[in-house]
Amino acid sequence: MSPLRKKIPLYTRPEQIEGLKAASRFNAELMDFVRPHVKTGTTTEELDRLVHEYTLDHGHTPACLGYHGYPKTICTSVNEVVCHGIPNKRPLSDGDIVNVDLTTIVDGWYGDQSETFMIGSVSTAARQLVQATFDALFVGIRACRPGGTVRQIGHAIQMSATDGGYSVVREYQGHGIGQEFHQDPGIPHFPNFASNRDVLQPGTCFTVEPMLNIGGWKTRLDKSDGWTVRTMDKSLSAQFEHTVLMTESGPEILTLTDDGPQEGDTLA
Ligand code: MF3
Ligand code: CO
Ligand code: CO
Repeated sequence: MSPLRKKIPLYTRPEQIEGLKAASRFNAELMDFVRPHVKTGTTTEELDRLVHEYTLDHGHTPACLGYHGYPKTICTSVNEVVCHGIPNKRPLSDGDIVNVDLTTIVDGWYGDQSETFMIGSVSTAARQLVQATFDALFVGIRACRPGGTVRQIGHAIQMSATDGGYSVVREYQGHGIGQEFHQDPGIPHFPNFASNRDVLQPGTCFTVEPMLNIGGWKTRLDKSDGWTVRTMDKSLSAQFEHTVLMTESGPEILTLTDDGPQEGDTLA
C-alpha cells in the first residue's frame, strides 16, 4: 500500500452494518423528537436539555458532551455561526436561521446529522441560502459511487453552491464515522486534489455536511469560548449533514426518517 493512501475503515460484516444503522436510526429519531421544539422563543439551551434527556432516557450517550472538552450535548449555530455554536440562553427569534447538529453513541457506534431551521419568517436571502445548502447536500451524496473518489463529492457540492452564488467553507469538512466520531476519510466540500486518492469502497461510512455562506468562505474561531466558528465577514451560513454508508449499489443515507425533510423538498 502506498504510504500516502489512508487506512479507511470498512464495515462489511452484518453486525457492523447493524451497529451503524441502529446508531444513525436513533440519531434520526432524536432529530424527529427535537424538530417541533425549534421555534421562536425557545432557547438553544432548552433544545440542548431536551436532547440530553431524551438520549439518556433511551440509554444512549451524547457524543459531543466532553468531546475535546465541548461543554454541551448539541451544537446550535445561529445566523453567521458556521458550526460548533454552543447552546445558550438567547431565545430563537423571528428571522433567525439555526443549525442543530446531533451526534449520539449507540452501543459504541456513532450517528451524526444536522439540519438548518428557519425561525418564523426569514429573509428571502436566508431562505434561498438554506435551500441551496440542503440541495447541495444531496447533490454531494448523489455524486458518490462505490469505487469512486471522495473528490467527486466536493466537486459536485462546489459546483452546486457556485451556481447559486454561494461560497463553500473549506476549513471544516465531513468525516469518516463508525466506532469513532471522526476518522478517515476526511470529506472536503470542495474539490481538493488529495481526495482523489480516497476511494469509496463499499463499507465506507462517512458524513457529508456542507456549510455554505452568502459571503466569503473564510471563517474565524471565537477565542473567548474556543468553539464557535463564524464567517469572517459575518455573512449568513447554513449547513445540513447526513451519515452515509457506501454500499455495492451506491450511497445509502442512514440518518433519514419519514418525518424529516426529503431529497428534492422545498423547505417550509
Ligand atoms: N457534530 C459535529 C460534526 O458534524 C462535531 C461537533 S464536535 C463538538 O462533526 F465537539 F463541537 F461538539
Ligand atoms: Co459530522
Ligand atoms: Co454533526
